[in-house]
Amino acid sequence: MEKIQETAAFLRKQGIKEVDFGLILGSGLGELADEIQDAILIDYSDIPNWGQSTVVGHAGKLVYGTLSGKKVLALQGRFHFYEGNPLEVVTFPVRVLAELKATGIVVTNAAGGVTHGPGTLMLINDHINFTGQNPLIGENLDAFGPRFPDMTHAYDVAYQKTAHEVAEKAGITLADGVYMGYTGPTYETPAEIRFAETVGADAVGMSTVPEVIVAVHSGLRVLGISAITNHAAGKQAELNHAEVVEVTTRIKETFKTLVKSVLAEL
Ligand code: 6GU
Repeated sequence: MEKIQETAAFLRKQGIKEVDFGLILGSGLGELADEIQDAILIDYSDIPNWGQSTVVGHAGKLVYGTLSGKKVLALQGRFHFYEGNPLEVVTFPVRVLAELKATGIVVTNAAGGVTHGPGTLMLINDHINFTGQNPLIGENLDAFGPRFPDMTHAYDVAYQKTAHEVAEKAGITLADGVYMGYTGPTYETPAEIRFAETVGADAVGMSTVPEVIVAVHSGLRVLGISAITNHAAGKQAELNHAEVVEVTTRIKETFKTLVKSVLAEL
């Protein structure tokens, strides 16, 4: 709690006074932060109590400014549990966003497709926490939320409606689906993906679930978008790396347009 307040105070001192939305940008999706206007950039290494980014394709910078008329604080690079970060570190930025009185977060990721193919943008309707972990284990932070948070509408219903309306208007195909969160760092086996499909997953990934749990606990509204960059195991003969890069490059542009258009309407 003290650490959260200390970090929020530090960010305020850097000029981050008013935040409408937090943007958590997944692997390969960080470019969106480059479009933020009047940007204040802060290296993760300069922020007290903040984790450090180790993954390639994650810049490790906070970018604050205006995007689509909203004050946004973007995380260009997130912390993953598989990197060895405690979930407290993984979800710390979400607590700080709540402390800065943000309204909501837009959480994004690159994910493997179970029922959707590469190149799909999927609005996350719900998730399955299959990590075997929960960031809220331990003493409850009563100042943020209740001991037993309701997860019925973890992904804000009104935000989802807005996202679909905006996508349709912009001519962007936006699928729906359930995101199943694994810890990684291994990709799933084909048997694990058959299991995922059986229990109702449409996409699989190694992030997002901890951040969303803490956001819901903190009373932040959540919009989640997965960029499906590849088929999950057993869904197709191995994609080659060039194809994955090509899909990511293509999907990134549509992704940026979608998030900017949705932000304007949130
Ligand atoms: Cl196939 N699985 C997981 N867990 N994460 C991913 C992925 C697959 N593809 C991208 N991220």
